[in-house]
Amino acid sequence: MKNYLGFFLDSLYRATGGETQQHDFLTRFYELFLESSPDVALHFRDVDMERQKQMLGRSLQEMTDFSTSRAANEHLRRTAFRHSRWDRDISPELYDLWLESLIATAREFDLEFNEEVELAWRVVLAPGIAYMQFKHDHR
Ligand code: HEM
Repeated sequence: MKNYLGFFLDSLYRATGGETQQHDFLTRFYELFLESSPDVALHFRDVDMERQKQMLGRSLQEMTDFSTSRAANEHLRRTAFRHSRWDRDISPELYDLWLESLIATAREFDLEFNEEVELAWRVVLAPGIAYMQFKHDHR
């Protein structure tokens, strides 16, 4: 029987398979995420969004690895610090908007998206989100 990691990886592949499709996925994600709150939009006002899309593409992979290994590599530690109160100061509640925007994007791009698949996205991404949120106030 397929587990949630399997459901998630298959969905991610269907949604972001080709390189152009991955770019479209990330473009749509940032569209929804920036629309989700003026607070989010404010954080991104000086950010190069093309570079940002590349970084997020990579970090989705990293969030998946973290979900299975439960070991934070150097890059994830740096990413968390970047979002912490000592740098960009991303408030922990904004991660809900991040996740909901990502799931809304997956729903649009993955033609086989359903409730089981949605739960898989939530379950797989939860540990990485918990890590990032905790690190907001902890060194
Ligand atoms: C688990 C969720 C998230 C992941 C995996 C993630 C990932 C990343 C990565 C990999 C970077 C690039 C860091 C670097 O340049 O070294 C980044 C930058 C950034 N992220 Fe996130 N992020 C997440 C959630 C959020 C949320 C909720 C916000 C809220 C607005 C946010 C706002 C930003 C901003 C403003 C930057 C800075 C870009 C810059 O300084 O050039 N992120 N994020």
